[in-house]
Amino acid sequence: MSTVGIRQVAEHAGVSPGTVSNVLNRPEKVSASTRARVETAIRELGFVRHASASTLRAGHSKTIGLSVIDIGNPFFTDVTAGVEDVASERGYAVLLSNSAGSTSKEERNLLVLAEQRVRGVLITPSDEGPGPLDRLRDRGINVVLVDHPAHRPDQCSVAVNDIIGGQTALTHLLSGGASRLAYVTGPLTIRQCLDRRLGAERALRGRPLRVVEMPTMTPRAGQQAAEKIVSEGDLPDAVFCANDLLALGMLRGLMHAGIRVPDDIALVGYDDIDFAAASAVSLTSIRQPTYQLGRVAAELLLDECDNPGTHAHQQIMFQPELIVRESTR
Ligand code: RIB
Repeated sequence: MSTVGIRQVAEHAGVSPGTVSNVLNRPEKVSASTRARVETAIRELGFVRHASASTLRAGHSKTIGLSVIDIGNPFFTDVTAGVEDVASERGYAVLLSNSAGSTSKEERNLLVLAEQRVRGVLITPSDEGPGPLDRLRDRGINVVLVDHPAHRPDQCSVAVNDIIGGQTALTHLLSGGASRLAYVTGPLTIRQCLDRRLGAERALRGRPLRVVEMPTMTPRAGQQAAEKIVSEGDLPDAVFCANDLLALGMLRGLMHAGIRVPDDIALVGYDDIDFAAASAVSLTSIRQPTYQLGRVAAELLLDECDNPGTHAHQQIMFQPELIVRESTR
């Protein structure tokens, strides 16, 4: 890493250290010819400014924090891509942290982000508890909820209507003639899982829904759910999974048991990650505008940070979309 300082740049360019500082921080105060001389010196000497200096001056670093539930889920990869594109366009870097669904890990991560003086935090909370978010606000750190609707007018959020998503999934399965339905989900403490169940039950209008709750939302958990359903007998004729990773594992488990999808059991996932279309039996799924979720959340956060006087808080709700493929009738 370069150890060249502002003084060496100033000597090399034949200007004062204050002029170099102005070129770095207030370039509009420097003539074009002097700015060009200083920028040439910076390039020739390989000068790299210490972010700590600008952080101390501004009170925050040129970073934004992003806390997700499951860094291994392609859903969050696409959310992060949307966040990172906006951050990069605005000269910010993204500090990504993974709660893995643990509130204690989430709290530790949020404290580190605060210590890094991030400009603001985007978070998919691991649970409904307001504590960690209130502590960030108490430190003057703006927060925008991602993939989680806010229930306060003074809190920005960007989410997808998961109740409609669950209802759409079950309506589609019912339209294919299904009558014995199951919902395979992650922990129902995760708001997205609970809302998808509520939507599914709304579509059923009182008809029974067998719920299989797994500790995680991974392909392995989906395969274990399939093994559980097969071992218990009385097979459903349709399964709605709370996300595509569970559905892809469910598909593997059912195929291992000699059960045909969709002939014996129709299957719907959620998210429409890339693997859904590429699966051996392409997966019907509820598509979320994942990249847009990330972009819009980052734009809201930076607007709240940069324009506190004019910023209007928004609770944006996108609508999910049914993508029909081979795994349903
Ligand atoms: O984080 C669990 C799930 O909730 C993801 O798969 C995605 O569907 C999100 O909304």
